Amino acid sequence: MILPITQYGDTVLRKLCTPIMADYPNLKELISNMFETMYNASGVGLAAPQIGLPIRLFVIDAEPLDEINLKGFKKVFINAKMIEEKGDKWAYNEGCLSIPGIREDVNRKEQITMEYLDENFVKQTVSYNAKIARVIQHEYDHIEGKLFVDYLSPLKKEMLKGRLADITRGKAEVDYKVKIPRR
Ligand code: NI
Repeated sequence: MILPITQYGDTVLRKLCTPIMADYPNLKELISNMFETMYNASGVGLAAPQIGLPIRLFVIDAEPLDEINLKGFKKVFINAKMIEEKGDKWAYNEGCLSIPGIREDVNRKEQITMEYLDENFVKQTVSYNAKIARVIQHEYDHIEGKLFVDYLSPLKKEMLKGRLADITRGKAEVDYKVKIPRR
């Protein structure tokens, strides 16, 4: 089932998300709906607050970023914690399904180590780098209540103010189902 994606200005996108237990109601169905919602919107990642749930869950499928090296790179992160972030910062043009129509370069460190539970609630500790790290850093921010626009310079933010306000009012052009914070 395709779920509406919460848009910039929705308070759920600013919540520090809470961990879940293995008996979380209909978790399998929720994960499958999140993937379906993400693919429908041509995204490479989707976090639970983007479908209105302030829980520590996100899904990614990074294959569209590199169809050879990232083929089948589809993962579920439950109760993720970033235990290390290191290396040089590099710029990458980020976008977000909750902030449609806006893409900006964001600087982040190149390597991360994540501790998380997979979809079977098996604990994983894995290091990632480059583009994969980038997708995970972006989604991880979502469960910490952060958005990529938070990293932009005050000037850039000022320039985007009107467009962000349009998104919040539902005036942005979007070709997937969204939940508008204010009408
Ligand atoms: Ni996002």
